[in-house]
Amino acid sequence: MSDSNADLTQRIIDLKKAKNAIILSHNYQLGEVQDIADFVGDSLELSRQAAKTSAGVIVFCGVHFMAETASIICPDKTVLLPDLHAGCPMANMITAEALREKKRQHPGIVVVCYINSSAAVKAESDICCTSANAVHIVEQIPLEKEILFVPDQYLGSYVAEQTGRKMMLWPGYCPTHARIQPQDILRLKAEYPKAKVVVHPECRTEVTALADAVLSTGGMIRFARESGAQEIIVGTEIGILHRLRKENPGKRFIPVSEQAVCPRMKLITLETILWSLESMEHVVNVPERIRRRAKKAVDRMLAG
Ligand code: 13P
Ligand code: SF4
Repeated sequence: MSDSNADLTQRIIDLKKAKNAIILSHNYQLGEVQDIADFVGDSLELSRQAAKTSAGVIVFCGVHFMAETASIICPDKTVLLPDLHAGCPMANMITAEALREKKRQHPGIVVVCYINSSAAVKAESDICCTSANAVHIVEQIPLEKEILFVPDQYLGSYVAEQTGRKMMLWPGYCPTHARIQPQDILRLKAEYPKAKVVVHPECRTEVTALADAVLSTGGMIRFARESGAQEIIVGTEIGILHRLRKENPGKRFIPVSEQAVCPRMKLITLETILWSLESMEHVVNVPERIRRRAKKAVDRMLAG
């Protein structure tokens, strides 16, 4: 660690203690951010951590919908997002108004929303899911019900295939995972014939079809730990490589694409975390009327 990072880290640790704060980091964050976090995980694990922490302040190192979900779950805590521009483009591919219109056209339809969505969209949904539990959530919906899955068409089609349920899909997608191409996987499989291939369900259908396992980022961390494979080809945002390599020093991790970078995730740095703790900004709040309705969808997911 450089002297300046060591100094920043110490100041963050001191302020965290003084303000009774914890730092939660998503698996895609910069390595130095993951290293100072109290907990690093996927969207579901981070929501569960937010729900059970006794800290009064949560510094959320991830994107806006993740901080918003923490605020939906624990309105009594101060949730800070160190950079307000850290948004998820896929979450912005659907609005509450557009979803209401779709519901008007399909009365009685069950809306399953991926956690990568705004609080206002969650408030219009029946149940929330993450990539870790989407199949399980959809399996619980009575067979006679029509389902609308929003906003990720690729996660939605993967879940439809796994469950055998016909679902209406919103045409959203993740621009970062769209960069992962099937021909890159085929090339790497030829180069590393013994390697296992893990990909995120936000990848295109042609990509998930080539994988040995389709997993959330938390699922990939467990797969790497438990699998006997010494070489693993990884089809997701490259921030996860930091943790995979740190936790499994004897294994080789090969990214499918070095271009698979989520620029918004990388806006969070040690500097912005320190600034956030000093200034207590940016507080992420959800209006109570929306929060109460969104919480129903999130609570059903956490109970499921
Ligand atoms: P996970 O919940 O699998 O960590 O995914 C979050 C995400 O934004 C993937 O792009
Ligand atoms: Fe959103 Fe994709 Fe970034 Fe995940 S990787 S936060 S889905 S843009």
